[in-house]
Amino acid sequence: MPDQTPTSIIKARDLHKCYWVGTMPFPALHGINLDIEPGEFTVLAGRSGSGKSTLLNLIGALESADNGSVEVLGENILAMGRDQRTRFRLQNIGFVFQAYNLIRVFSARENVAYVCQLQGKGRKKSMEIADHWLHEVEIGHLGYRRPDQLSGGQQQRVAVARALASEPKIILADEPTANLDSMTGRRLIHLMQDLNRRLGTTFLISSHDPDVKQAAGRLIKLADGQIVDAWDNIPKPPIAPASACPVENLPLTKRLRNYLREARKKALNKRGHKMNEDQH
Ligand SMILES: Nc1ncnc2c1ncn2[C@@H]1O[C@H](COP(=O)(O)OP(=O)(O)OP(=O)(O)O)[C@@H](O)[C@H]1O
Ligand SMILES: [Mg+2]
Repeated sequence: MPDQTPTSIIKARDLHKCYWVGTMPFPALHGINLDIEPGEFTVLAGRSGSGKSTLLNLIGALESADNGSVEVLGENILAMGRDQRTRFRLQNIGFVFQAYNLIRVFSARENVAYVCQLQGKGRKKSMEIADHWLHEVEIGHLGYRRPDQLSGGQQQRVAVARALASEPKIILADEPTANLDSMTGRRLIHLMQDLNRRLGTTFLISSHDPDVKQAAGRLIKLADGQIVDAWDNIPKPPIAPASACPVENLPLTKRLRNYLREARKKALNKRGHKMNEDQH
């Protein structure tokens, strides 16, 4: 039978992902099927641990799936080699990570400009683009600060500016408003909606934020790694057996000994480093 959704910009089929802690499997996604059309503004909602970040990571090919396929712009992204995948992402996908993932030794401007430089743009042009997007997310005046000199919400906005700066066809955003006050969050949502309308950028956003959910063109509900129609009667996840935790399986004295050994090693390294510096 011919595929009913030839226009999908993102097409996930039977996606399964399981994480392992020691010998215990923790299934995160069970058989996700998803079609996103170009220009959609879709929000993935679901309680903590339902699989939102895992699904975004698989669609962005940041992690591999145990089973299933993901096509982005008609390309089987999970089957690509590492370099090809990186190039593909750089040209087509902007990612806003839940944990920002900014480069610590770069200023905010450099963090944003870096993706443009990787795309082949010159440094001056890249810096101009960075200034533009930092201004759009209302932190244009903080461009010279490093991530550790910014608040969580400001770092989140740098991460958003970085995703927007490459003007990708798709933006995958993992909780982009999680650390923003409601007013700044709303302004960011409006900016994303505006880009969605003006440039036709496709957005797939995971969020708990009611304002983001309200802005959604389509709301996809995730529960226990599956797409559901409603959240009624979804049981609480079971408590994992103690054997699932290899750390807890070690006696406390052994854990303490390991911890002290690590701490001592770190202190010695630090002292050695300092002595080297003093000699110079
Ligand atoms: N590296 C990992 N090792 C083991 N289990 C993991 C790992 N990453 C995620 N999980 C598990 O996979 C499931 C899905 O996690 P995921 O981070 O996708 O949830 P989420 O919906 O994004 O949650 P949140 O709203 O808290 O960000 C959870 O049960 C989580 O504990
Ligand atoms: Mg998450």
